[in-house]
Amino acid sequence: MAFASAHMLALPATAQQNGDRQRLSLDADWRFRVNPTATLDKKTSVTDWTWSPASPGETGDAPLLDESKHTWQAAKLGQDVFDQKPGYAWCRTTLPALTGPRRTLHFRGVDDNAVIFLNGKRLASHQGWDEAFDVSLDSAWNSAGENHLTVLVQNTGGGGYVWDGVALGLSQAPAAGGDPSGPGYHDSAWRVVNVPHDYVIEQPFTEGLDPQHASLPTPSAWYRKTIVIPKGDRDKDYWLDFDGVYRDAKIYVNGKLVGGRQSGYLPIHVDLSSLAKPGEPLTIAVQVDPSKVEGWWYEGGGIYRHVWLTSVNRLHIAPDGVWVVPKAVGNETNPDSATVDTSVTLKNSGLGSRAYAVVERILSPGGKIVASLRTNSSEPIGAGARAVSKRRISLSHPLLWSLETPNLYKLETSLEVAGRPVDRVVTTFGIRTVRFDPNKGFFLNGKSVKIKGICNHQDFAGIGNAVPDNLQAWRVKKMQAMGANAWRMSHNPPNNALLDACDKLGMLVLDENRHLGDTYVPHTYAEDTKADDLSDLDDMIVRDRNHPSIFAWSLCNEEPLQGKDTGAEIFKKMLARVRKLDPNRLATCAMNASWGKGISLVEDIQGFNYLNESFEKFHKDFPNQPTIFTESSSAVSDRGVYENDGARGYVGNYTDFSLDWLNWVRRTEDAWKPIAENDYLSGAFVWTGFDYKGEPSPYGWPNIHSHFGILDMCGFPKDVYYYYKANWQDKPSVHITPHWNWPGREGKPISVIVFSNEPMVDLSLNGVSLGRKACPRNGHAEWTVTYAPGTLTARAYDTSGQLAATQEVATAGKPYKIELRTDLTKLSANGEDESVIEAAIVDENGIFIPVASDKVIFTISGAAGLIAGTGNGDPNDHTPDASSERRAFNGRLAAIIRSTGKRGVVGVTATAAGLKPAAISIRFE
Ligand code: GAL
Repeated sequence: MAFASAHMLALPATAQQNGDRQRLSLDADWRFRVNPTATLDKKTSVTDWTWSPASPGETGDAPLLDESKHTWQAAKLGQDVFDQKPGYAWCRTTLPALTGPRRTLHFRGVDDNAVIFLNGKRLASHQGWDEAFDVSLDSAWNSAGENHLTVLVQNTGGGGYVWDGVALGLSQAPAAGGDPSGPGYHDSAWRVVNVPHDYVIEQPFTEGLDPQHASLPTPSAWYRKTIVIPKGDRDKDYWLDFDGVYRDAKIYVNGKLVGGRQSGYLPIHVDLSSLAKPGEPLTIAVQVDPSKVEGWWYEGGGIYRHVWLTSVNRLHIAPDGVWVVPKAVGNETNPDSATVDTSVTLKNSGLGSRAYAVVERILSPGGKIVASLRTNSSEPIGAGARAVSKRRISLSHPLLWSLETPNLYKLETSLEVAGRPVDRVVTTFGIRTVRFDPNKGFFLNGKSVKIKGICNHQDFAGIGNAVPDNLQAWRVKKMQAMGANAWRMSHNPPNNALLDACDKLGMLVLDENRHLGDTYVPHTYAEDTKADDLSDLDDMIVRDRNHPSIFAWSLCNEEPLQGKDTGAEIFKKMLARVRKLDPNRLATCAMNASWGKGISLVEDIQGFNYLNESFEKFHKDFPNQPTIFTESSSAVSDRGVYENDGARGYVGNYTDFSLDWLNWVRRTEDAWKPIAENDYLSGAFVWTGFDYKGEPSPYGWPNIHSHFGILDMCGFPKDVYYYYKANWQDKPSVHITPHWNWPGREGKPISVIVFSNEPMVDLSLNGVSLGRKACPRNGHAEWTVTYAPGTLTARAYDTSGQLAATQEVATAGKPYKIELRTDLTKLSANGEDESVIEAAIVDENGIFIPVASDKVIFTISGAAGLIAGTGNGDPNDHTPDASSERRAFNGRLAAIIRSTGKRGVVGVTATAAGLKPAAISIRFE
């Protein structure tokens, strides 16, 4: 059989320790192409619009718009004509003359839904509040006179409008070039990429594109790969598994559509058994289309999680077929024993009827076999049938999973036929007790634990959403170093590797489903939202329920129906799925209004997003309902910035502690204090741990990423990091805000803020004390200092008056050299692992320069690594993420170095004009 791809791969014959099961990574060597997109020639912006309220009865009546019923007002594009209320409005304009053919109107988006009429003829409708779309106009165009365009806008919640960025032009369709889904297609000119891969981050930042999604184009694309099934492998089933593809993936094998998924956050499982023939090639082609979005943050595009090919005996353990429910028995803190309920789903996809045995072994955290049992089938399993084998296993003196000692057990599940192991799956689990008390908060293993959590999206500097497994773990450790003990997967099911890292490192998880209700109906958020297809919720729970780190499920975030009866009805249906698939965990929903109504009345735990002071009233009114701040403070700042600059879109680090800012942002201190001080509040998740691309509130372009992070896009701390560090963990800490480089401000007052977890702080400038001040728990100490260059020192004293922590900030001189560091020096040569190399600009004395902006060029030596990208945390830096050169932002930047798959040492050198270069090496083994 002829096929065109240069990338063939034979399945290796691996050791048989897993019976007949072989699992192979298909991450390497995909052929990849971004689809060419239509462009608009002779493009003009359409900016003069008027609007008038409409009643639902008018829908579809555009030709008959009764002028006497309408008063038209001028409307700026992007202006909320609904004043935050649901309803309908007409928006209209007269289009400029244009000679066709292919006259096309491009909408940057209509919030929420639109019906478009030209000269009274209905041309198109579009559902969805944040997506660009095109409308062809030729069929209703009046070449002899004026062209009146009318848009009926429906708003179902929040604000509603036609987004700025409507353009008229002549559509130029891209050249067709054949259908890439089949094996005969020639893809040899396409790029070769490894996944995880995010190609949206490779696009140019473009003014006019959706700033919520980082002002990046979201073209569709194809991935292709050809593999060969080994000759000897008869009588097996073959599965192709994608851990996550953003989004609307369509999977073709040998030209046949075999599967897909709209959601970009959940796995896709494809059974290839009927197509896979031993010795013959299989061409896998994946079409992805990220143009329709699921959220209001950067969501990326591409095969951004792992891909697997699994072959199994026809009689096998089903995908996600092992469910482990461990329970400590007796004392929660120090139980004598535990029960481990196992449920194993088996499938016989085509063999004749077979008797079988399920053999289960439990390995302790130290690797010792602590339980072993065999369950013979009570009756044989017939061809095409499924069977479930359930057992209760007892363990004595279990080692608990906790934040300090995240002990993990392993359950080995083997399937035997006539004494031969035909399949084996290993499942990691942990034994812990999780409990919510409406008056005393959250308990882990019987001990009260205040949830000190962060929300995070998925992306990272330089690489977008294609974050490799080792960086997932690194990100968890960064949050733990600050004292965080919980991670909210906002607002979508996460990468498996992130959950594994949370299990292993002892980080609690609030796992989150994307939407209220049915994911496969266009999301209008209207009263008619359905709950017919809850498969996304089901799949998240079945995929994730064995993870000990997950302490509860969050079923949705800030849904317009949250306070309504209809919302509660949908939530109840979702809750019924949770009770069936995981009766051992409670469920919440992150609500930002209507507490005490709608979903509040049916959920287990009340989630508050920015509830301000009325949480007290809620607790009084609903004394039996546990509470948690699903989002506490949504504070904004940019690293190293100390003045708000609305014109350029920067937010200073003082803002959060001393000034009024956005009306929905709760200042860090105001948000955390009551949570720390009220036992009944289980804890909080701060919005967010890391900055992320998109959602640049309170600004738009030229900002391309958020200001919300406690750490910036590269993981460099902003000042607020030290507030949490002081109050979320016990090691003595002290931190001075701001830096001490203020040429021109000599003799002028500068506000100095100190965070410490010690009660008393002394601040001195150039050896002269400026006085001791109390630093209240969960608060800060503040001085006004007359600026003089030199060294500002903060000394923190404990309750017995002993010096416990010191910090110095010194005025730096001129940029002299670059310094490099990383805590990721030894990585796997797996073609995926990445190191984050942190660069700082320092003066001749090694003093960090907090205002340096030198352009740094990274180069690499050795074949084991490549520069995947760079970042600096500057929300206005439009240098493409994949670039190997970038300016320092306030003294720092980072390079992300990826394994090429080869072993060896990689030298990374950083150079900048006029500065002493620096080098560091990392080893891929
Ligand atoms: C919340 C929302 C988050 C993010 C945040 C910004 O309301 O759940 O996704 O938008 O606000 O403050």
